[in-house]
Amino acid sequence: MKSERLVKIAEEFGAPLYVYDSGKIKSQYQRLTNAFSGVKKLRLNYAAKALSNLSILKLLNSFGSGLDTVSIQEVKLGLLAGFAPEKIIYTPNGVSLEEIEEAAALGVQINIDNLSLLEQFGHKHPDIPVCIRINPHVMAGGNSNISVGHIDSKFGISIHQIPHLLRIVELTNMNINGIHMHTGSDILDIDVFLYASEILFETAKNFKNLDFIDFGSGFKVPYKEGDIQTNVEELGKKLTERFNQFCEEYGKDLTLAFEPGKFLVSEAGYFLAKVNVVKQTTSTVFASIDSGFNHLIRPMLYGAKHEIVNISNPKGRERFYSVVGYICETDTFGSNRRISEISEGDVLAFKNAGAYCFTMASNYNSRYRPAEVLWHDGKAILIRKRETFDDILRNQVDTKDLFQPKNQKVAVK
Ligand SMILES: Cc1ncc(COP(=O)(O)O)c(C=O)c1O
Repeated sequence: MKSERLVKIAEEFGAPLYVYDSGKIKSQYQRLTNAFSGVKKLRLNYAAKALSNLSILKLLNSFGSGLDTVSIQEVKLGLLAGFAPEKIIYTPNGVSLEEIEEAAALGVQINIDNLSLLEQFGHKHPDIPVCIRINPHVMAGGNSNISVGHIDSKFGISIHQIPHLLRIVELTNMNINGIHMHTGSDILDIDVFLYASEILFETAKNFKNLDFIDFGSGFKVPYKEGDIQTNVEELGKKLTERFNQFCEEYGKDLTLAFEPGKFLVSEAGYFLAKVNVVKQTTSTVFASIDSGFNHLIRPMLYGAKHEIVNISNPKGRERFYSVVGYICETDTFGSNRRISEISEGDVLAFKNAGAYCFTMASNYNSRYRPAEVLWHDGKAILIRKRETFDDILRNQVDTKDLFQPKNQKVAVK
């Protein structure tokens, strides 16, 4: 989005603020759909965890997307947004049997990633079809926290446990209707996808009643002009060919599923924050903004490098700034970045702020979470209000006169 547009939106709704461009989400959805147009049955299940505002979920639903969820709350949000239960897949990790049963009762597709719960669920509900999450033991992903398909990962059922898994299926008489993997996020090399897919095809041969194979996600998006990204078109060509060949061998047209989060919403998002102070120290010029890692934690958590632009002065002379937040510990968004000259009161825009940004925001330091705005069909629409002090107090219980301040005299009646 253009700087002038973002400045106007910040003037109207205030900052800090998240802004999402619905047009970009749509074009990314179409790009991935086109890349796999050679597959007879394709399903994109948007990963709700990336950005779970109801209006965003409704937008994705309007494209025909399915939904990938990881908690019962995300399942409920999806249903509220209008997704049909059969278009929601629920892929939890380490949750209780009760939570899985609650999701199953809502009619969504269950995906189980450990043998213990598979056996318990199969014994109790042999008639409910289940997808299984496989761990293909592939090291993939841009950061150790988001590499989830390797041998030491807590996710999925190891491919070496397939014989055990088959014994459970036989014993419980349950129906396995899908197999799934997700090896990590920010995977650049399409050969990693293709290699892991071969493992999934090999595993699939063990199950006779499959309806779909879910290849997870992990597409890397560009974080700045000219940045490297997953070549989804090339992946589409190669995987489509291999998938169609597999379906022929299997004797059925299966659905090819993906569950992209970042690919669909990362580049559509902008985080806008005002500069409170420009502070020159002996070695650095800091721009302190009216925000912190309570609003955007990815730089501190993953070392993510969000491009930062001064939208109030986009054509100014560039200088080096370290952009920092107001949190009571090191809270750096970017060190020594070249940004056009910053004055106090300017608004900075952080790019790629659509995925895993608002959904990871917190009230740390008792700060309010920002508002969210959707830019749709030439209009800026408020889709989440900025929090207020009431939100900070909402669930706190007033214990009345349980404690008295030490040095204050108790009022005598
Ligand atoms: C099971 C699962 N599917 C899909 C995704 C979405 O990944 P990405 O945002 O890289 O597309 C994730 C991300 O953590 C995930 O854990």
